[in-house]
Amino acid sequence: MKPFDVYPLQSITPVKAFGCYVWDENDTRYLDLYGGHAVISIGHAQPEFSQAIAQQAATMGFYSNSVQNPVQQELAKKLGELSGYEDYQLFMVNSGAEAIENALKIASFQTGRQHVVAIKKGFHGRTSFALGVTDDPKLSSPANRVHPTTFVDMEDIEGLEKALAENETAAVVIESIQGIGGIYVASKEFLQAIQTLCKKYGALFITDEIQSGYGRTGKFFAHQYAGVKPDLITVAKGMGNGFPIGGVLITPEIKPYIGMLGTTFGGTHLGCAAGLAVLKVLEKEKLMNNVITTGDFLMKELNKLDVVEVRGRGLMLGVEFGFSIKELRKILLEEFYVFTGVASNPNTLRLLPPLSLSVEQAQYFINSLKSSLEKIKTNESVSVN
Ligand SMILES: Cc1ncc(COP(=O)(O)O)c(C=O)c1O
Repeated sequence: MKPFDVYPLQSITPVKAFGCYVWDENDTRYLDLYGGHAVISIGHAQPEFSQAIAQQAATMGFYSNSVQNPVQQELAKKLGELSGYEDYQLFMVNSGAEAIENALKIASFQTGRQHVVAIKKGFHGRTSFALGVTDDPKLSSPANRVHPTTFVDMEDIEGLEKALAENETAAVVIESIQGIGGIYVASKEFLQAIQTLCKKYGALFITDEIQSGYGRTGKFFAHQYAGVKPDLITVAKGMGNGFPIGGVLITPEIKPYIGMLGTTFGGTHLGCAAGLAVLKVLEKEKLMNNVITTGDFLMKELNKLDVVEVRGRGLMLGVEFGFSIKELRKILLEEFYVFTGVASNPNTLRLLPPLSLSVEQAQYFINSLKSSLEKIKTNESVSVN
């Protein structure tokens, strides 16, 4: 048997990682500006995180959701404290798509409605409901196209109100910052309008913070820059720093009942030990402050370059060039040993490093980027200092 060949693979085989670096099988060290697709939050193989997992695995890795689980209780409490959502409830799952699936389902249960309003060029995952609210026809099979959804443009408040007025809507779902779409930050005005219009039309407000959450922007959630309070917030990626966990934060106004939701692996002892360690390290190492410092430095330096636009917040940045970044990424990887990410816009470089990225590491990246751009321009070999 061999793996089902669905991923475009880069020509690199990482075999170990620590902090903001990964090493390949030849012991070549790479600076990770991609964070394994925004997953690595507190840094690769962070010692307290690794120890917490090892200890929990050696004690009891798993028991089902039919028993008391103090580790899950502790994780929920800590997440409430750090995120500012102490009065919310947490339902745990294993991935981002599942978090979205459950958030939409909860909204439908609560309102008794089916219709959803989503934002064009968004991405919410690969399960059926998640694909229903993602407007990329290439990702959906015919069987996925069963969820009644209206797509509106980002920032189109009039279109949003029209969509809500036309259909009894269960929820409006939005990425606070569109990730794969190319790092587009939803404005304060737009997020506030969604909140107001959801109240007016009896829909629930869902923010997808799977990529933009968990401190990546310098606040715990990106929507907190707009001063809004969504009814449902989805999390995954950075929540487990590589351990596959996700969750939905749920307003206290929504009351659960036994059997309403369920999953075998969501909220296991092992997953919660990993998630709890992430939160403790995030707090102890003041990583959100670091995100602001390093993010501001990157934003300032990137804006000095010949770019079309730099978008994003903190350590979730999109750098749009006036040309395809394919060659640039290849040079960064193969000659300067820097990992970067892509977006659906072929001209946009996506930066999603661990939240522990230092200014010195960011400076190395800037130097590498300048040299790579120079190299593309002159088409000759140069080295970075
Ligand atoms: C904003 C957003 N939502 C949902 C998902 C889906 O998460 P997962 O791949 O864990 O199912 C992703 C993944 O890239 C994402 O970026």
